[in-house]
Amino acid sequence: MAKSKTAYVCGDCGSEYGKWQGQCNDCGEWNTLTRLSVNAPSAAARRGYTGKLEPARTLAEISTEDKPRLVTGFEEFDRVLGGGLVPGSTILVSGNPGAGKSTLLIQIMCRMAAGRAALYVTGEESLSQIAMRARRLGLPLDDLKVMAQTNVEAICAAWDEMKPGLVVIDSIQVMYRDDVESAPGGVSQVRECAAMLIQRAKRAGAVLLLVGHVTKDGSLAGPRVLEHMIDCFVMLEGDNDSRYRTLRSSKNRFGAVNELGIFAMTGRGLQEVSNPSAIFLSRGEDTTPGSIVMVVWEGTRPLLVEAQALVDESALGNPRRVAVGFEQNRLAMLLAVLHRHGGLQVGDQDVYVNAVGGIRITETSSDLALILAVVSSFRNRAVARDLICFGEVGLSGEIRPVPNGQERLREAAKHGFRTAIVPRANMPKRAIENMNVIGVGKLSEALAAIEPD
Ligand code: TYD
Ligand code: MG
Repeated sequence: MAKSKTAYVCGDCGSEYGKWQGQCNDCGEWNTLTRLSVNAPSAAARRGYTGKLEPARTLAEISTEDKPRLVTGFEEFDRVLGGGLVPGSTILVSGNPGAGKSTLLIQIMCRMAAGRAALYVTGEESLSQIAMRARRLGLPLDDLKVMAQTNVEAICAAWDEMKPGLVVIDSIQVMYRDDVESAPGGVSQVRECAAMLIQRAKRAGAVLLLVGHVTKDGSLAGPRVLEHMIDCFVMLEGDNDSRYRTLRSSKNRFGAVNELGIFAMTGRGLQEVSNPSAIFLSRGEDTTPGSIVMVVWEGTRPLLVEAQALVDESALGNPRRVAVGFEQNRLAMLLAVLHRHGGLQVGDQDVYVNAVGGIRITETSSDLALILAVVSSFRNRAVARDLICFGEVGLSGEIRPVPNGQERLREAAKHGFRTAIVPRANMPKRAIENMNVIGVGKLSEALAAIEPD
């Protein structure tokens, strides 16, 4: 019997250490190392490989018959994955508790189960809860097989018997293997369970969808260890208070990663929003200081999003800078640019910025809107209601062009916006109907453009 030895594995990046230490040398995170037992190499393994040697081949010699992708019927989901599910691949679906992962997957599975073997394994809800939800959502109930099980060996046995082409594991954090010594949710359990399931999926040419939770305090094994093992990693995000959920992929071996899918959580589950350009606008009749609409580009589509800022005198020695939906560092940088090149001193002010609707903006074209919203709130003067803006702001106060300027302007015009402040290099060659476009090259010009006088 092989002796087992102990190793310590970082829950964030998966690096292994012989001894416990407080900080991971590789990723620099603290307190992420947990114990893991590994079987010591057997005598046979120490002797080296004695089996038949498989020669390496050139790429041309390898046949690549294209297996057709499975289409889920949710266009937004398929688009984020690059055109559907690839047989033999593993997709990790993650998100905060309550984001709607189970809801989305039960909807997908019930629809896809028609005419193909599909298995939904739950370790979190009871079977009757799932059945109740599916019934309430009006989903077809006749084809999908469901199972409440957390033992991966048992799941694999059922897998071999049923031979499903599509398997959901909800969630990987509650699964366990008898031969791994640690509690479910620990790094080693998550890693070993996932490895076993992924191997099954590859061998059987089935699609495996794993649900993984992310918790704020990181007490569950972060799905970070899984990131290396899976083919696609998609995240379902959104405020639980907001109706909208966005689906984004951050790793995809079979497609681009910049696509954004948008869903609305309704009384009948998640519904696709196929024309989302104006859902992140929440403007009433009045104009308020600190609010401005920007046009961001997500994947292949323009989106109109309202940016809000609140600038208020700080009671603290170290004023607060809070960015919700934007990057915190970007905000700090833009405030410095605003001070240096716009002459506006907000050093003694708390600054809060927010992207309406719980969307997360990663694009730099939102820079100009952030700055203008801050200025509008600071001066307590609203910008015109029919104004939009976009543009990247550089460190020397220059306004840089962004891709797809024309399309952004056209989308804004379609939604009734009449004035646009854009980088000079994004000025359209031909005038856009009903749209007054103001091209700006420097921050000072942009600030002048929102002043009514
Ligand atoms: P769920 O899929 O259970 O989330 P997760 O698996 O990601 O933890 O979704 C839970 C939330 O979705 C819950 O707060 C209620 C809401 N919801 C609706 O608003 N409408 C519905 O039809 C369903 C099924 C859920
Ligand atoms: Mg769930």
